[in-house]
Amino acid sequence: MASTVKTDELVFFVNGKKVIEKNADPEMTLLTYLRRKLGLTGSKLGCGEGGCGACTVMVSRYNPSQEKIVHLAVNACLSPVCSLHLAAVTTIEGIGSVTSRIHPIQERIAKAHGSQCGFCTPGIVMSMYTLLRNNTLPTMEEIEEAFQGNLCRCTGYRPILEGMRTFSKSSGCCGALQNGNSCCMKSKETDETDFTSRLFDSSEFKPLDPTQEPIFPPELLMLIQKTSTQVQFQGERVSWIQPNSLSDLLCLKAKHPDAKLVVGNTEVGIEMKFKNMLYPVIIAPNYIPEMTSVLHSEDGIVFGSACTLTVLAETLKKAVSKVPDNKTRVFQAVLAQLKWFAGQQIRNVSGIGGNVMTASPISDLNPVFMAANCKMTIVSKDGKREVRMDDKFFTGYRKTALKPNEILLSIEIPYSRKGQYISAFKQAQRRDDDIAIVTCGMNAIFHESTTIVKDIKLSYGGMAETTVLAKKTCEQLIGKQWNEDLLQEAVYHLAQEITLSPSAPGGMVQYRQTLTLSLFYKFYLTVLQNLANDLMDKNIASSLILPAYASATDAFHKDPISSVQLFQAVPPGQEIDDVVGRPLVHLSALKQATGEAIYCDDMPRFQNELYLALVTSTKAHAKILSIDTTEALKLPGVVCFVSAKDISGSNATGPVFQDETVFADDEVTCIGHIIGAVVADTQEHANRAAKVVNVAYKELSYIITIQEAIAKKSFYEPIRKLEKGNLKKGFEEADHVLEGEIHIGGQEHFYLETHCALAVPKMEEGEIELFVSTQNPHATQSHAAKALGVPSSRVVCRVKRIGGGFGGKETRNSILSTVVAVAANKMKCPVRCMLSRDEDMLVSGGRHPFFGKYKVGFMKTGQVTAVDVSYYSNAGNSIDLSFSIMERALFHMDNVYNIPNIRGLGYVCKTNLPSNTAFRGFGGPQGMITSECWINDVASVCGLPAEEVRRKHMCKEGDITPFNQILNDLTIERCWEECLKNSQYYCLRDQVNEFNRQHRWKKRGLAIIPVKFGISFTVTFLNQAGALVHVYTDGSVLLTHGGTEMGQGLHTKMIQVASKVLKIPVSKIYVSETSTNTVPNTSPTAASVSSDLNGMAVYNACQTILKRLKPYQDKHPDGTWEDWVRAAYFDRVNLSANGFYKIPDIGYDFEKNEGIPFSYFSYGVACSEVEIDCLTGDHKNLHTWIVMDVGNSLNPAIDIGQIEGAFMQGVGLFTLEELRYSPSGYLHTRGPGSYKIPGFGDIPGTLHVSLLREAPNSKAIFCSKAIGEPPLLLATSVFFAIKDAISAARAESNLTGPFRLDSPATPERIRNACADYFTKLIHPQDPQTFTPWAVQV
Ligand SMILES: Cc1cc2nc3c(=O)[nH]c(=O)nc-3n(C[C@H](O)[C@H](O)[C@H](O)COP(=O)(O)OP(=O)(O)OC[C@H]3O[C@@H](n4cnc5c(N)ncnc54)[C@H](O)[C@@H]3O)c2cc1C
Ligand code: FES
Ligand code: FES
Repeated sequence: MASTVKTDELVFFVNGKKVIEKNADPEMTLLTYLRRKLGLTGSKLGCGEGGCGACTVMVSRYNPSQEKIVHLAVNACLSPVCSLHLAAVTTIEGIGSVTSRIHPIQERIAKAHGSQCGFCTPGIVMSMYTLLRNNTLPTMEEIEEAFQGNLCRCTGYRPILEGMRTFSKSSGCCGALQNGNSCCMKSKETDETDFTSRLFDSSEFKPLDPTQEPIFPPELLMLIQKTSTQVQFQGERVSWIQPNSLSDLLCLKAKHPDAKLVVGNTEVGIEMKFKNMLYPVIIAPNYIPEMTSVLHSEDGIVFGSACTLTVLAETLKKAVSKVPDNKTRVFQAVLAQLKWFAGQQIRNVSGIGGNVMTASPISDLNPVFMAANCKMTIVSKDGKREVRMDDKFFTGYRKTALKPNEILLSIEIPYSRKGQYISAFKQAQRRDDDIAIVTCGMNAIFHESTTIVKDIKLSYGGMAETTVLAKKTCEQLIGKQWNEDLLQEAVYHLAQEITLSPSAPGGMVQYRQTLTLSLFYKFYLTVLQNLANDLMDKNIASSLILPAYASATDAFHKDPISSVQLFQAVPPGQEIDDVVGRPLVHLSALKQATGEAIYCDDMPRFQNELYLALVTSTKAHAKILSIDTTEALKLPGVVCFVSAKDISGSNATGPVFQDETVFADDEVTCIGHIIGAVVADTQEHANRAAKVVNVAYKELSYIITIQEAIAKKSFYEPIRKLEKGNLKKGFEEADHVLEGEIHIGGQEHFYLETHCALAVPKMEEGEIELFVSTQNPHATQSHAAKALGVPSSRVVCRVKRIGGGFGGKETRNSILSTVVAVAANKMKCPVRCMLSRDEDMLVSGGRHPFFGKYKVGFMKTGQVTAVDVSYYSNAGNSIDLSFSIMERALFHMDNVYNIPNIRGLGYVCKTNLPSNTAFRGFGGPQGMITSECWINDVASVCGLPAEEVRRKHMCKEGDITPFNQILNDLTIERCWEECLKNSQYYCLRDQVNEFNRQHRWKKRGLAIIPVKFGISFTVTFLNQAGALVHVYTDGSVLLTHGGTEMGQGLHTKMIQVASKVLKIPVSKIYVSETSTNTVPNTSPTAASVSSDLNGMAVYNACQTILKRLKPYQDKHPDGTWEDWVRAAYFDRVNLSANGFYKIPDIGYDFEKNEGIPFSYFSYGVACSEVEIDCLTGDHKNLHTWIVMDVGNSLNPAIDIGQIEGAFMQGVGLFTLEELRYSPSGYLHTRGPGSYKIPGFGDIPGTLHVSLLREAPNSKAIFCSKAIGEPPLLLATSVFFAIKDAISAARAESNLTGPFRLDSPATPERIRNACADYFTKLIHPQDPQTFTPWAVQV
């Protein structure tokens, strides 16, 4: 675009301050503008695709037609900065600060322990803030709805909701638990007086005072009233035109037929960012009255196509509340779709026209619009025409019948009539904020006062490349009675008509086809019920709808959550300054809630700083023939290309084995393998250039799945083995021998902060400073040093805090930080890189997928005599930590059970996937869920309750594990009994059985699962830690230790330890960062042991200080801390001390099965109840009770936070999160749009957590216990509850006995396992005859 094109000034307000941008770039998002140009780094980048809410800000606009200011939560990552012209933006910085006035939302989220790593917190605060600006006393439903577009990976959501509940109508109480359970108030009155549930004191919260909120800038109001002309902004590649009238718009569209009309940018933004599309002209129609108007016509409501989905929903809701029910059935169907349409932030900006015109096959609105035959008005410079949304409207994948110069002006949503019934259904992996797997609109019109079909339209999304009408089926049904025969006919024809290729994009072919039938069945029953009501025909109701079948028609509904957390209060005499054991708030929580906490990418930019973008392999296995950077180097701002040639030290790297390269040299071994990197002046320039680096490959054969690796015997050696007893004898003695399998899918860490590194060369002796988001500063330092060819002493790695790690930043970060260091070293200036979410997911690996194969021998009584289990893990293209992970899987192969004869074999598969790595639980979850499978199968075959078989085998004090460790101080039985009692398990079991008797299409399931988790690094030398304590002359204490703060509250706990030892208040102690120049050779912050290890190191360092101060204390017993410190200083006493600790008496030799791998064990038990929808595969987490042994908790709030956060991460692992790879190793699921971690809506309806009382642990600091990982395994209780519910569903089809259910138990797996009449109508294709879209890796 020529630079002579006119460009206007972009004017908007940010936090009350006017911003004038003379060179607004249409390609720049508001988030980039805030963070880079304005230095407002409180809003975070978590995904860049509107899926996580970390970037949420409030946008306020004046709405001239309503004559009011409208406040909307929006995703700054998707809002083009140009769209903000004459708007007011409020960011987290604008509402409160720790240095001035903190906002009540910020205070409450922090003090309710709703912020762990804090990376999600500003976005969550801003969602809540916007809600409260619009509604000062919301209900809990409204609060949960406001959070539909926000994700948190740490907290498990419960504390956030409890904190925000204090603003709601139901504040002050848990909201009352159902099913006869007591409410939170009652639990406080427990007779066990030292047990408490007070994690925070809401009486200390500042009240919300809406009058204190900033007003809409008066100057902006004046500007809006004065402005009436078209504005235009011109960027490097794109121009943005905001016409002021419809005729101007139509002229522009005639002139630029390829121009995009951008309303919410929620499609166009994604296409430009992720699909590499470039649209040189963008037209913004938001201010054209005809495009945003809402008109009530005789036939319905006409919405201008730029009306947002929020306006659509509000208008329809109003109509539904005022107009008779039979007139608003189309509206109700649209509302049903909108309920599950994205999150609030997306609905607030995206337009109806955008949804229609994108013509996505999985659009949620189009099936309803098509079923309702909506009328659309289309205009161009040449005139106007009206068309119906019918089977001719969508002409191909993302294509419509509109001509290039035409636009959609409006859409009329019609009133329904008497005798018309319309429903909409959407099935997705996750309920909240997820794109559909199958979505549909179904509309039946009956001859007056009859049950004879006059017309019917069944429209499906997700079943073809466009939204489709099942025309042939519908034709067959016209004129028929709405009865069982019609049902049979309909599903028969649907199964023939709505089909999918077995290779169809999106996969899940059998499931999607089954859904078309199951959803019709739901519609059939719903209509039947309505007909019975409307025609007052009792015969229809009683003869056709069995009460048990009515459950099929209930729409998915979840009550707001309620919760109870119980823990042991500190003993009555404990001094007030002794904070150990108290629920102290995470010491960074307030800063995190105000956006003032600094993460790696929040660091101010250096003047000469450059940005780096990776060039990665697009092939799973190939020789690199050439790398052509010619085009890339020509692009604006590009400085250089970095590759293996630039490594002055060694290109070989790897955490244990040096089997990786920093840059692929001549061969790539996975898609995502780093080949090189482009360095440029800005992130945008670097990214653009990286995309045009041309790599030529010669493809080689590859292995992607575990099954392929098994077939080709592609294993890293050695095969691991753990054995106890006499397997042969055990099987001989058995009454039954049963074999089974389970595949456990991998898991993406999905820390909210992606990998990030900043390298700053020091220009002297090869010195370089690395600021990295890592759990492993030592490895980061040493790997960079090795690549740069300098001693480690020249490299400093510094970590302030990280926005979540979960194991993903234990080893995998160091490749990126090394690449960045190499680039900085080459350019002799600072270089930064923060991976985008999709890059992060592509290159960094995750939890290992596992395949478990077992053979179990057992007696008729359910007594297990022998177990033989083989584990296969998908390690990917390098070893990384895979052996240790496999070893831990084997350590957990017996879970808590004493099995006399047991053998586990561990095969680490070498494949062409990105190297998989540590992830909370570290192989334990995969090891233990397999053991729960065989114990479940034994119960099923013997017809015994599963909990009875579990209880029967539970280890006892003094039992010996398969790795020959004697179990002492066992608390598992206590946890088990308490969990049974808390959940009233046996009562609940009766209730579940009764529910299942009464419901055919909804089933409930229940499971109680125990967990034992070994604590220690199983690599012995890592069980060491250091700490450094400086006491300054003013009495302030700077504490440093080897652990990194990633939200788990480690620094808080360490300060608690130091405070207790030094006997000074927490406020005198400060942790600034973790760095390799203060505490060297640190072990990674991992394996749950960081509090144990660093806590003891801190303890030792503080003891040294205390000893040195003792003479001065003794001399002046009435003095203050400051007096003693000063006296010691003047006496020339060293007020700096380091501490060191190593776990004694551990060390294990896997080959010999000798020694002690674990310092001790953590125990816990969880009981969960779920409900599944047998027709769709949806499940609801109804209730969970957890009892966890954390020893004497150092900080119950943090420990409960870890339990709940880990539990929900486990719920994601076992029920929701699914990485989908193509057969050639390409990861399809690379962002929150396609990879679903649990959201607010996924937490159990009631969550009851109690910490086991009176359970001191002599092996760790102040008798505490490790907590980071073990509770994740408790989420298997949800998995087995689902399996239990499926068993009940299968029993309806006379299917009994064990069955295979792979993890995660997704809707697809649940539905397919609930075999019934509909599943039988869909015949799976022979797998040998086609290439699937995705494979189980
Ligand atoms: C996180 C996230 C979640 C989502 N969830 C869902 C979901 O649950 N269900 C669902 O169906 N979709 C979903 N989407 C897709 C998207 O939000 C919707 O399709 C939305 O309605 C698009 O509207 P928009 O205004 O943002 O479109 P834009 O990106 O502004 O425009 C989209 C396209 O429509 C064209 N267009 C817009 N208006 C007109 C017009 N009047 N005439 C002609 N062409 C026009 C534009 O030229 C462009 O090609 C999601 C997207 C994101 C990012
Ligand atoms: S960063 Fe904007 S939604 Fe994730
Ligand atoms: S606290 Fe929410 S992502 Fe870490």
